[in-house]
Amino acid sequence: MPLAPDRTPTHEPLDLEVIWDLSDAIDERRDGGPVTPAMLEEAADEAGVPASHAWVAASVDPDIDWQGQSALTVRVCTGGCQAWGAVPVLERFLELRARRLEAGLPAFDVVAVACLNTCDRPTAVASAGAHGYATHPDTDVEAVDALVEALLD
Ligand code: FES
Repeated sequence: MPLAPDRTPTHEPLDLEVIWDLSDAIDERRDGGPVTPAMLEEAADEAGVPASHAWVAASVDPDIDWQGQSALTVRVCTGGCQAWGAVPVLERFLELRARRLEAGLPAFDVVAVACLNTCDRPTAVASAGAHGYATHPDTDVEAVDALVEALLD
């Protein structure tokens, strides 16, 4: 694993107790199958937390498969990168995804992962789609809109 960033953390990570409980609830809900966005949204609703927390909870289970629904997948590290703003970055990707779906536009899948192996450059993001696979280290929340536009261009 690469070194941690050479700068002070900017964000408090989510409460692990809450994330583990949510992870268990997701595991029961999926019953051995892949997770879907609807499943994660329902689990978050039931727990009274933002949907992004369910994405983070799903990322802590290495056995989970994420059901692909789009030609483009964006992966966001919500492991150690949380301390440098990964959850707001994840939330912005989820907002943009929802907006595109509501507007009937091609959307993208959002997957949360525990590490993307560029831990020294949070938030680590990776994309896979028609353009191939690419990494997008140092993604802050202000960069997300432009990144999505570039990936869907
Ligand atoms: S903690 Fe390793 S890439 Fe985020």
